[in-house]
Amino acid sequence: MNKQIVLLPGDGIGTEVIKSAQEVLIAVAEEFGHQFSFETHDIGGSAVDKHGTPLPEATVEACKQADAVLLGAVGGPKWDELPSHLRPERGLLGIRKALNLFANLRPVKGFPKLLHASPLKEEVVKGSDLLIVRELIGGLYFGQPSERRDNGETVVDTLSYTKKEIEQVVDKAFQSAQLRRKQLTSVDKANVLESSKLWREVVEEKKTAYPDVSVEHLLVDAAAMKLITNPGQFDVIVTENMFGDILSDEASVLTGSLGMLPSASLREDGVGLYEPVHGSAPDIAGKGVANPLAMILSSALMLRHSFHLENEAELIESAVQSILNEGYYTADLQVKDGQQVGTKEMTRLIVELIKSQNTTKSIQNCYA
Ligand code: IPM
Ligand code: MN
Repeated sequence: MNKQIVLLPGDGIGTEVIKSAQEVLIAVAEEFGHQFSFETHDIGGSAVDKHGTPLPEATVEACKQADAVLLGAVGGPKWDELPSHLRPERGLLGIRKALNLFANLRPVKGFPKLLHASPLKEEVVKGSDLLIVRELIGGLYFGQPSERRDNGETVVDTLSYTKKEIEQVVDKAFQSAQLRRKQLTSVDKANVLESSKLWREVVEEKKTAYPDVSVEHLLVDAAAMKLITNPGQFDVIVTENMFGDILSDEASVLTGSLGMLPSASLREDGVGLYEPVHGSAPDIAGKGVANPLAMILSSALMLRHSFHLENEAELIESAVQSILNEGYYTADLQVKDGQQVGTKEMTRLIVELIKSQNTTKSIQNCYA
């Protein structure tokens, strides 16, 4: 298979962990006889420094030509004082919109070795395995341009959705549920917001097309509470952009390991952008200690969702599982009696495992 991948390292530890993902992909390509070519482009704060914009036109063009995009992370205190149109986050929002990546998949599954680090009791979090499907290019993030009126004393942000925008992400969530435990929880605020009422109507309309999937509706405040009191009750959660942003951060710590969580942002034809859920971690950037596993797992999601290379994706995921089981960990994790390693060493261990065990299929597909 021949594929063109754009790498967007971005800022902070993004530049370190993206190299890890690239090395892993090169090893996978060698093992399975694929041709992956890579092109690197600027985004975020480093693009502001070099080009005066967080999203250069050349970056957008390259991503549009690519089969898939891997992104490290954007942002950092260096750029915090910039006006909002120049902030690094604008680069990320802009590329999501430019590529029409309407569905953001954030799987949350605990690795047994790390569960003790969860802020929740181990018995509460044990066995949790959920997927948040977040609408990514609508809602408050992309309403009519935000405004300040009355000399700055009144502000307006707009939450708008078309029925079609809701339908496409709800369809994606139903389809994801069909590949998993067939339970869909739609999260909204239908007791207050008009957009949520439409959201609920769409889910009700769509469910007849997916009779094998059971559906419940939850208000977002109750969902936030249930996520920490009984996370095991969830399979797939679908929700609008801002609720999904907040709930996915909440869910990400359940398993005690923000540094482990990958994400996929997809459009209909399978083109996608893959990035870790964690940020650019400026405090540890450049020290060689960042955990590359969320980025590496994101590259596995790319193989699965954009290239339909299921065996290759599972090999990466099983390599990560094995390395943790062997007791290796990076500074952000705490593994009792394990051995702490840096970014490069962790990557080398994964690459070695991929090269030596390309037939291992030890863990089930938990990131579908
Ligand atoms: C995320 C991030 C972004 C978002 C920020 C950096 C704009 O928090 O990917 O969840 O809010 O979508
Ligand atoms: Mn977020």
